[in-house]
Amino acid sequence: MKIVAILGSPRPKSNSAALAGRILERASELGAETQEFVLNKLAFKGCQACEACKTKLDHCVLKDDLTPVLEAIKEADAVVMATPNYFGEVSGQFKCFFDRTYSFLNPNFTSRLAPGKSSVLIMAQGQPNLNLYADVYARYEMWLKRYGFANNHSLRMNGPRPADSVSQRPDLITQAEEIARNLTSPSPKQAGDTW
Ligand SMILES: Cc1cc2nc3c(=O)[nH]c(=O)nc-3n(C[C@H](O)[C@H](O)[C@H](O)COP(=O)(O)O)c2cc1C
Repeated sequence: MKIVAILGSPRPKSNSAALAGRILERASELGAETQEFVLNKLAFKGCQACEACKTKLDHCVLKDDLTPVLEAIKEADAVVMATPNYFGEVSGQFKCFFDRTYSFLNPNFTSRLAPGKSSVLIMAQGQPNLNLYADVYARYEMWLKRYGFANNHSLRMNGPRPADSVSQRPDLITQAEEIARNLTSPSPKQAGDTW
């Protein structure tokens, strides 16, 4: 069981990264092999819309620090993605990463990824009202399903805004641990049974 985390916050002691870290720690205790990438430390471009991945290659033509991240997702059983909410959206770092996953789609827009992977999208926002920005997960979940992710989780942190605040939210730490348990013990159907 391989779990890869993609961290989209530039902040040291980021809240979204701390929640992802708790999932990875617990999953590792439960036997998973884990790996994490901090997007802000990587040098990479967003999608160039060159369509090479739709016309002559089955992968992204760009060779940069995001190349091993995209490869790690192909190999993973579960992908944990974490981002702050910036102006009602994911961070710019996260959006540039997500646009590059365009290369996971065949020319007919079916997925090149093996089906049945699990996903987690963590989003931290300063706003206490969770009704605000509920659309963000819904939109990303739609694409994750298109990529063949079958066991999908959302974890949202609403306020407080300062970094390193996750210890003030034991409810979210518990949710993160429950998600880790789910990722490491998928149901028989998620594990690839065909009936
Ligand atoms: C550029 C910028 C834009 C932000 N925009 C919003 C916003 O639109 N709504 C909101 O609730 N919080 C907003 N915030 C607050 C962050 O979402 C919040 O601090 C969050 O905890 C950051 O996640 P992190 O700790 O993982 O970096 C913004 C912060 C920054 C720096």
